[in-house]
Amino acid sequence: MKVLILGGQGNLGTQLTQSGPSWGHDIISWDRDDLDLSDWPLAQVKLNSLSHVEAVINTVAYNAVDAAETEPGRTMADILNHQLVANLAQWCRERGLTLIHYSSDYVFAGDKPEGYKEDDEPHPINEYGRSKRAGEVSLMVEEEQGLNYYLIRTSKLFGPRGLSPNAKPSFFDIMLQLAATSSELKGVDAEFSCFTYTPDLAQATWQLLASQADSGVYHIANSEPTTWYGALQKLAELAHLNLPIKPISSADLPRPAARPQYSSLLMTKLPALRPYHEALVEYLQNLLDNK
Ligand SMILES: NC(=O)c1ccc[n+]([C@@H]2O[C@H](COP(=O)([O-])OP(=O)(O)OC[C@H]3O[C@@H](n4cnc5c(N)ncnc54)[C@H](OP(=O)(O)O)[C@@H]3O)[C@@H](O)[C@H]2O)c1
Repeated sequence: MKVLILGGQGNLGTQLTQSGPSWGHDIISWDRDDLDLSDWPLAQVKLNSLSHVEAVINTVAYNAVDAAETEPGRTMADILNHQLVANLAQWCRERGLTLIHYSSDYVFAGDKPEGYKEDDEPHPINEYGRSKRAGEVSLMVEEEQGLNYYLIRTSKLFGPRGLSPNAKPSFFDIMLQLAATSSELKGVDAEFSCFTYTPDLAQATWQLLASQADSGVYHIANSEPTTWYGALQKLAELAHLNLPIKPISSADLPRPAARPQYSSLLMTKLPALRPYHEALVEYLQNLLDNK
């Protein structure tokens, strides 16, 4: 299948771009340098030049959760997380293309310790979450007109850094860097949710596309949810970090955007992914091998 990947050099986009050919797909991978998707009229001209594409995977997003609380971040979040998704959904629907798009556990309020199923009611508590939810709703509107889509909610991504020079380090990358220069590490012992390894998410995405499952919402995240502190303890154990690891509360780390306290994504429609710490072992081994 000929598949267009948008955001192809981001953290997830790089994994999708690299793994797509092994699923037999002919991949076109575009990033910001290829087309600026915040300018839809211009982007549409380039998109219209494509032929024989059967599916579009959109990983482009405005992910700066705290900056989205105020301008200009709030407007950028609306442009990329909402308006772009609405435009892509219409563009795909008009051409009969399948659209795969990613959303976030941050569409949920975070008050369900047992976790959220795909059909639980979203209720975002910050601007980033509201913009992602607006994008979700625009897919559902286009579905009524015939769009085939897979809306994949995921959370707390980690994995090999994307090829883009702007690709952000994950929580684990930041903690490994800090471990080299600090006498102790601290993690917020809250925001219980699922860490997700981008290579696992990429494989599960291709699997979903191949399955020709029903259009709709799917949760994909590694299993065994934990807090930032819990994940930091696991990192310290697996990477043999020889320094104290301390829990702190959310109040010890004030941030502009409210965070959901419990936002584990339950995968009720697809087979569960392996525990995040098994993926973390693989990630750490790859870091060592590539040193
Ligand atoms: N990261 C997480 O923990 C997390 C959690 C839950 C859900 N998600 C969702 O998962 C998806 C993938 O996230 P990710 O972390 O892989 O994102 P990412 O690394 O930030 O990648 C996003 C890509 O989009 C590109 N992009 C940004 N603005 C653009 C524009 N105006 N025109 C064209 N391209 C543009 C970026 O290019 P540049 O590199 O040049 O900026 C980057 O390559 C997103 O939908 C995100 O909301 C992520």
